[in-house]
Amino acid sequence: MADVRSMCAIGKHGQLGLNGKLPWEGTRAREFREDVQRFFEMTKGHVLLCGPRTRRSIPQFAYADRTIFEIRSSMPPAETIAMFPNRVIYIGGGPPVWSAYASFIRHWDITRLPYDGEADRFFDPAWLCGVRNGN
Ligand SMILES: NC(=O)c1ccc[n+]([C@@H]2O[C@H](COP(=O)([O-])OP(=O)(O)OC[C@H]3O[C@@H](n4cnc5c(N)ncnc54)[C@H](OP(=O)(O)O)[C@@H]3O)[C@@H](O)[C@H]2O)c1
Repeated sequence: MADVRSMCAIGKHGQLGLNGKLPWEGTRAREFREDVQRFFEMTKGHVLLCGPRTRRSIPQFAYADRTIFEIRSSMPPAETIAMFPNRVIYIGGGPPVWSAYASFIRHWDITRLPYDGEADRFFDPAWLCGVRNGN
């Protein structure tokens, strides 16, 4: 079984994204900065699969020490995962990607941040049970 994981940060009510970015983008408070740092530490050396919008939000420096691969809805998840044998694979979102890959994810790492503002993308707890529900 492939080592497929996921790591994300959510706001107080499951907020994930806003206008193609993190809803709290630019917030300088310690928890937010540490969360981003931790994401880059944990995914270092590994494969990060993500949808086009999420990939566009990844800074250039991140390509130096991890394999970042853009996935599309035309690519069957099982075949895509099989492209990276013996690697740790992180499923990087956004929501339709987590929905499609939920049943393959063995480990979730979720940080809840003290963000209470708006969002246009939300975490779906059904992903934790490997349920695919069409969003
Ligand atoms: N808080 C966090 O930890 C976190 C993490 C990641 C992303 N985000 C946020 O989420 C937002 C981006 O997510 P998004 O959903 O808008 O765009 P996205 O990242 O482009 O992901 C969705 C797209 O992925 C593609 N895709 C690839 N494989 C798929 C599959 N098997 N099934 C369905 N779709 C698949 C589809 O595009 P095609 O049909 O064109 O291929 C789909 O529209 C941003 O705001 C970003 O900041 C937050």
